[in-house]
Amino acid sequence: MSQAAFHFPRGFQWGTATAAHQVEGNNLNNNWAAWENIPGKIEHGQKAGLACDWWGGRWREDLDRAANAGQNTHRLSIEWSRIQPAPDRWDESALDKYMEILRGLKERKMTAMVTLHHFTNPIWIEEKGGWENEATVAAFEKFTRKAVETLKEYVTQWCTVNEPNVYAVEGFVEGVFPPGKHDMSAMLRVMANLVRGHAAAYHAIHSIQPNAQVGIAAQYRSLAPGIAWSPIDQALAKMMSNFFNDSFTRALVSGTLRTPMGSVRIPAAKNTQDFLGLNYYTRDYMTFDLRHANTLFSRRYFRPDAELSKNKFIANEPEGFFEAMKWAYGYKLPIVITENGVEDPDDTFRPTYLAEHIHQVWKAVNNNYPIQGYYHWSLVDNFEWERGWTQRFGLWEVDPESQARRKRPSADFYAEICRENGLSSDMVARYAPKLFSKLFPN
Ligand code: GAL
Repeated sequence: MSQAAFHFPRGFQWGTATAAHQVEGNNLNNNWAAWENIPGKIEHGQKAGLACDWWGGRWREDLDRAANAGQNTHRLSIEWSRIQPAPDRWDESALDKYMEILRGLKERKMTAMVTLHHFTNPIWIEEKGGWENEATVAAFEKFTRKAVETLKEYVTQWCTVNEPNVYAVEGFVEGVFPPGKHDMSAMLRVMANLVRGHAAAYHAIHSIQPNAQVGIAAQYRSLAPGIAWSPIDQALAKMMSNFFNDSFTRALVSGTLRTPMGSVRIPAAKNTQDFLGLNYYTRDYMTFDLRHANTLFSRRYFRPDAELSKNKFIANEPEGFFEAMKWAYGYKLPIVITENGVEDPDDTFRPTYLAEHIHQVWKAVNNNYPIQGYYHWSLVDNFEWERGWTQRFGLWEVDPESQARRKRPSADFYAEICRENGLSSDMVARYAPKLFSKLFPN
C-alpha cells in the first residue's frame, strides 16, 4: 500500500465554526426565538432552547475538546440582542462573558474569528423592519463599534455578516427564515442594506483597529446545468449563480449591487474585504421546467448518483468545492474556508466527505490559491435553524436534553489532520478506506 501525505503550509489555521444562537442557549430576545414560537416554522416544533448551553458555561468543555483535538482557531459569533437588549441599553455583563470566552480561546492557544451577524436580529430591530429598513445600517454600525472597542484585545479577524445571500433568499424568497416573506423587492432592499451594513462595519472596525482583517462569510453553491449541452439550462445555471454567488461579493469590490431585480450604487462598499470567507456545502443541478414559475422556471436537484446526507440536505460534490475556491481566487484576496461540513448522525458519511473536501483544499493550496485556513461546521451538534435538531453536523454528538456529548470517529480523524497539518494515506486507510484508491492511486 502506498504511503503518502497531502501536507499544508506551515501556520495553516485548522478549526471549527459555531454561531451564537445555535450553541448558546436561552437566547430569547431575537427574531429566531420569536420565530420558533410560531407553530409550523421549525421541524417538529423544536426550539433552540438550551442549545449546547455555552451561555451556561459549557463552552469551556467544548473548547477543551477543540484544543485537545489539535484545533488552533475557532470561529464563533456574538449575539447582538444580548449585547444591546434595547436600543438605549448595553449589557456589559454579556460583553464580559464574550471576553471570557475569547480569553478562554487564547488560554487554549487558539485564535478567534468573530462573526458580528449570523442570521439573528434583536427583536427591537426586527420590529422596526429589520434589514428592510435602512436605519438598521446605522444601528449595526453602532453595535459593531461597541463590540470591537470592547473585544479588540482578543480579536483581529472579523466576519461582518454570515451568508448574506442565504439570509436574503431564505427570509424573503423561500420564506423559511424569519420574517418568512416571498417578496423579491424586499429581498433586494435587504441585500442592499446588508451591503451598506457590511461597509459601515468594515470602516468602523478599521477606524478602531487599523490592522484588523475584515470580511464576510459567503456561501458559494455550485450550480450546474442539468442537461450539460442545453443552452437553456446553461443560461439558467449561470444566471442563478451570478445572482446567488456573485452579486453580494462583487458589490464589495465595485460598490454596485447588481441583481436581476435591479442595481443599487453603494460607493462606501467599494473594496471592503481584507479576506474572502467561503462557506461551501454542496452543488445543485438546474433545469428549465415550466411547472416552476415561482423560481423563474428552474428546478433544482442533486446529481442522481451522488451520495446524499441522512436528510438528503447535502450531496457529496467535492469538485464543486474546488470550483468554489477557484471562484474565490478570482477576488485576489486571502481566502478562509469559514464553513464546510455535513449532517450525519451516524458518522458513516462524514469521514469520506471530510477526506474528499480536505483533499480539494490541498489541491487548491497547491494551485497557489491563498487559502489560510479551514473551519469545519461544526464542533458540536447544534440548533440547525428551520431544521431544528433533525440535522447533526457536529464532530461531537450533543443530546440537547441531557447535554451529554459523545465523540464521533470524525472528531479523531479531524484531530489527526489538524495535528499532522495534512491528510495522510494512513489516515484515509483507517477512516475512509473506500476512498483510498481514489486519493492515492498506485
Ligand atoms: C450554513 C449556516 C450555519 C449552519 C450551516 C449548516 O448555511 O451559516 O449556521 O447552519 O449552514 O446547516
